[in-house]
Amino acid sequence: MKICVVGSGYVGLVAAVCFAEMGHHVQCVDNDEARIKLLREGGVPIFEAHLPELLAKHRDRGVRFISGLGEAVAESEAIFIAVGTPQGDSGAADLSYVEAVVSQIARGIRDYKVVVEKSTVPVYTNDWIRRVLHRHGVDPLNFGVVSNPEFLREGTAISDFLHPDRIVVGANEERAADVLRRIYEPLTTGSYYARPDALPGSCSMQQPAPLLVTSAQTAELIKHASNAFLALKISFINAVSNLAEAVDADIEDIAAGMGLDTRIGPKFLHAGLGYGGSCFPKDVAAFHWVAQQRGVNFQLLREIRRINDTQREVFYNKVLAALWTLRGKRLAALGLAYKGGTDDVRESPALEIIRKLLKAGAQVTAYDPAAMERAQEVLPPGDSLRYAGYLYEAAANADAVLILTDWPQFAALDLVHLKQVMRFPIMIDGRNLYKPQTMIDHGFTYVSMGRPASYPAQQDKPRKVAC
Ligand code: UGA
Repeated sequence: MKICVVGSGYVGLVAAVCFAEMGHHVQCVDNDEARIKLLREGGVPIFEAHLPELLAKHRDRGVRFISGLGEAVAESEAIFIAVGTPQGDSGAADLSYVEAVVSQIARGIRDYKVVVEKSTVPVYTNDWIRRVLHRHGVDPLNFGVVSNPEFLREGTAISDFLHPDRIVVGANEERAADVLRRIYEPLTTGSYYARPDALPGSCSMQQPAPLLVTSAQTAELIKHASNAFLALKISFINAVSNLAEAVDADIEDIAAGMGLDTRIGPKFLHAGLGYGGSCFPKDVAAFHWVAQQRGVNFQLLREIRRINDTQREVFYNKVLAALWTLRGKRLAALGLAYKGGTDDVRESPALEIIRKLLKAGAQVTAYDPAAMERAQEVLPPGDSLRYAGYLYEAAANADAVLILTDWPQFAALDLVHLKQVMRFPIMIDGRNLYKPQTMIDHGFTYVSMGRPASYPAQQDKPRKVAC
């Protein structure tokens, strides 16, 4: 099928190459000329597993990158809107990019088209798109509007797209829903998984991707409710981790004990610095705004955010408790991205903590396997902040190592070497990547989240001090 994807960010670019991988002909449109040029010339603008291979496979064949919308709309059966919906001042999503794109799409519609909202948007956006198309004089018989939210995670986005837990299609009319059914057919019938060149993953011929058709409003709420629920799980376990610490219990064992209950499940029960990124913070706020607008009391969403913000404080206080004062202390910050597997630093707890440490007078040397460049754009190096060329350089002469991002590399450190290069063997782990006993065995003072601090045998355990 002929498809147009508007936007070449995380969602748009991944959707465009994955639709091409499924056998469709895709035109991916962006008004950022530099990005389009980069994509055309073989560049890969985001750090994402499998993206380079799929771009190499489909560029100029299944997917073309262009900057003008008109022709692409006229030639496509479905137009996916995947532009940004940043958080506005009130907490509501700013939908001005979506509106601008819909106005442009309106000009290109001559025969029946399905306009698909793929960006994360509040309930009734579908209705608004319909109204804007109307206002621009598009005949209502010539379009359908569908909400098709995306559930991909950065870092595993390609695999999430091609092996989805579910595909949600929110349509208020059958004709439009049918177009989406046809687009996703390779995944829902399993024909894609039978191909020898298919990307392996959780779906298969026997267990293809399920597709759920709902009303448009329902689909819009499914997206916001899903992200808010995942954020809730994280905040819940973080609140429990603070309690665990207060009574010398172990949050990792608690999460394991809870997660074995199949009704709860083990995922998203990792205590740590709280969630970051471009989705959860903005979506929880936007969902709360939606509830308020509709007169629904949903204070739980406010609490999720409050607990999340608290986690950074909790970690900072641990650094203080371990090091007493910070002025002039040399700290190795391992991790800048908001989670492992990505170079994205938006709303990264790591950056927020580094800023706080710098403000307190610490000397920070930071390292991240992928996000160094992006971090430097928002947190430039200076007298107190350096970026290390490699991991152990960051730790050289450090008074403590802080783990801020859950990269697999950080969970597999050479602890003997690390101890040798550091000034004092102190690790403050905001992601619980190590077992306390391992750290004690290697002679480290080890402080983590929701577990008692551990000290090497020869060292006296300090008195508990409230900070
Ligand atoms: C999230 C959702 O997981 C996707 O389903 C959704 O499509 C996406 O937002 C979106 O709306 O676009 P993403 O932000 O890429 O995806 O990352 P996650 O893997 O969900 O992690 C979000 C944050 O939660 C990270 O900061 C991570 O470190 C944190 N987290 C995650 C925890 O602190 N604990 C956990 O147990 C899990």
